[in-house]
Formats: sequence, structure tokens, C-alpha cells
Amino acid sequence: MELNLESSFSQIINALSQIIAWENHQRIFHAWRVAVLATEVARKITPEDTSQVFYASLLYDVGTVSIDETSLKKLSLDQQRTHPVILEHPVKGSKIVQEIPGLEQAAEIIMDHHERWDGNGYPHRKRDDEINFGAQCLRIAEAYDFYLQDNPQLDYDQTMKQLGEQKNKEFCASVYEAFGEVLAHNQYCREINRDECLEEVIMELQQELPPLQFQSKSDVIGVTLRVFARVIDAKHRYTSGHSQRVSQYSILLVEALHLDHDEVSRIKWASLLHDAGKVAIPQYILNKPGPLSEEEYDLVKRHPEITAEIIKYIDIFKNLVAVVRHHHEHFNGQGYPDKLETEQIPYLARVITLADAFDAMTSPRPYQRMKTIQEALTELERQKGNQFDGEIITQAKETFLGLTV
Ligand SMILES: [Fe+2]
Ligand SMILES: [Fe+2]
Ligand SMILES: [Fe+2]
Repeated sequence: MELNLESSFSQIINALSQIIAWENHQRIFHAWRVAVLATEVARKITPEDTSQVFYASLLYDVGTVSIDETSLKKLSLDQQRTHPVILEHPVKGSKIVQEIPGLEQAAEIIMDHHERWDGNGYPHRKRDDEINFGAQCLRIAEAYDFYLQDNPQLDYDQTMKQLGEQKNKEFCASVYEAFGEVLAHNQYCREINRDECLEEVIMELQQELPPLQFQSKSDVIGVTLRVFARVIDAKHRYTSGHSQRVSQYSILLVEALHLDHDEVSRIKWASLLHDAGKVAIPQYILNKPGPLSEEEYDLVKRHPEITAEIIKYIDIFKNLVAVVRHHHEHFNGQGYPDKLETEQIPYLARVITLADAFDAMTSPRPYQRMKTIQEALTELERQKGNQFDGEIITQAKETFLGLTV
């Protein structure tokens, strides 16, 4: 498969930005709007940092992904603002992004994205030029987007007046002036809350950016996807390490089944990303200890479709869309989302179904005793022909027996 590293990398980061921003089963475009605006400001005042500002703006709230938004919303706005999980999200986000190859400087921008010019920001109460300049571009872009959502009718002068109230408080005067120039000369930025062509604009912008400097190009995609998988798993208290383990079990199985190298790579990536759609499920459902209501279960059942929706924009993973979409189909046609049966279900999806169930049984979960490997294999065997493909179970019994989990 032809691999254009730079464009694959940026498509993956885009997909990651979308999983951070899914809300109530809706793609939300706030991060993309902020990315366009902040990048335009950076182009004017700190052009050498444009790419890093762009990627930081796609990922700046990655540290919020594990926050339980339902319990947070019960608090007053002031309590929310000063809650420890909120105060630490820039630090958490920065640590995650630091691990993504080529984005070391974006991680520094993320650390400072809530610092204010007047020293009243967080987490370190930095002030003036102690604050990363790229973070200031992001700060004004975010402030503008919030104004715009509340006041879509504001004209240029009114907007600049509103933002001007934060000059030398939230952001510095030079960032404010550069932002004014961007708005004055760029009609698209003034009308950015019309989401229709946002995706195209983001793609075009990415192509124009100065190339990133990767210290080593050897496993950029692999390392990035492992970070991606950790973000997916962080959403759910009980799934720490789930995607990585499902990937390991799936690879062991396809190797034992003597599938070729291409299939091994396909399953490696598909299994790492299979539950990406779970980020769209509210925390209170994911962490609910008791049985789910029908309505809640219907929401959970949408996650394979959302995973497919997220990864279809990554060119090198287009051939994985069907695999992730069908990882909850059952061999007897009783699964979801499409009730496919037997050979209708892509083979690699059948492998992931089994690896997924094996991990669920052998990991600690609430109200469920963790099974030994032998017990899990007996349970899989019991479901032969119902949930699972018998041929893959036979292989799993040989492959998994020697594992220590
Ligand atoms: Fe934030
Ligand atoms: Fe799943
Ligand atoms: Fe899973």
C-alpha cells in the first residue's frame, strides 16, 4: 500500500480530534474551527510555529476525554471551572501529545492553552511572555469561537469590540491585532460557524503547512495509533489497555492462522481502533454498574458504526471500515449493527469479535468475576456457532492456552 507519511499522519490526527469532540452522537466542529482560526493568526505572527499551532488546536482538549461530563454538569459553572479534573486537563493533554512523534512543541502549546496574559490562567499561572505564543493564538481563536456560537449575528466591529475587552487580560495586544487582520481579510474566518465546507478547508490547510520534523520516521503511524488507542480506552474506567490487548490477541490469532503479512497489519490497526466509536457514548452509560435500559443499550450498539464513520476519512484505513463496523456481529446472525451471519461477516471482524470477548472475560469488570484463561476458552467453546466462528475458536484454544494475562 502506498504510504504518504505526512498525509496519513494528519488524517489520523484529524480522526483523533474528532473522537475528542464527539458529543451526544454528533460530530462537533469546535476544534476544527479553532484550528483554522489559530493557524491563520500563527501564520501572521509566529509563522515558524504554524504547523505546531495547527496540530495543537486539533488536540488541545485531549486531556478531557476521561472526564465524567455528567457529574461535572451537576456543578455550578464556577465549581466546574475550579474542579481539579478541569485544572489538570492541560497537563494531562500535554503529556499525551508529547508521545506523538513530531508534536513535541504542540505539547508545550497545549500545556499553556488556558494560561492568560494577566496571570490568572491555569495550570501554572504563567503571565506575559512566559506563555507559549502559539498558545495565545489558540486562546483568542477559542474565545472568538465561543462568542460566535452565542452571537452568530455579530459584525466585524462588534466582534472586535467584544474581544477587545479581553486584550491584555486573556491574550496580548499583538495577538489581538493579528486576529483583527485575519478577520478583516478572510471572509471564510468571519463565517466559520457555517460548518459545511469546514472539512475541506481543514484538508487544504493541512496540505499547505510546513512539513513536520519527525525525529525518526520508522514507526510514526504505529506510535501515533497506540496513543490513539490509549485515548479511546481512557474514556472508560474499566477498559484501560483493552484496545492494545485485543490487538495483541488478534495478531496472535491471524499469525497462527497463517494469514499473510498484509492481513496481519490490517488486523493490527483495525483492532487498535475497533472501539473508537465508544467515545460517543456518555460516561454514565459506559460506567453504569447495573444492567442498561433498552435506550442506553441502543446507544452502546451504535459504537461500531461510529468507529467506521471516524476511520473512513483515513485513506490507508479505508479497507478496515467493514472490519470495524462488523466486530459485534454474531456468527448466527444475532449480533449488530447489520445482523450479518457466517461468511457474510468479514473474516478479520470474526477474529476481533473473539479476541474482544476473550479480553472482556479475562479482565476485571464490575459485577463479573474475572475468568481464568481455561474458563474463558470453555465459555468461547460454548458459544461456538452462536456468537463465534468455530474454526477460529479451535485456533484460539491452541494459541491462548499458554498466555499469561
Ligand atoms: Fe481546554
Ligand atoms: Fe466494541
Ligand atoms: Fe472492544
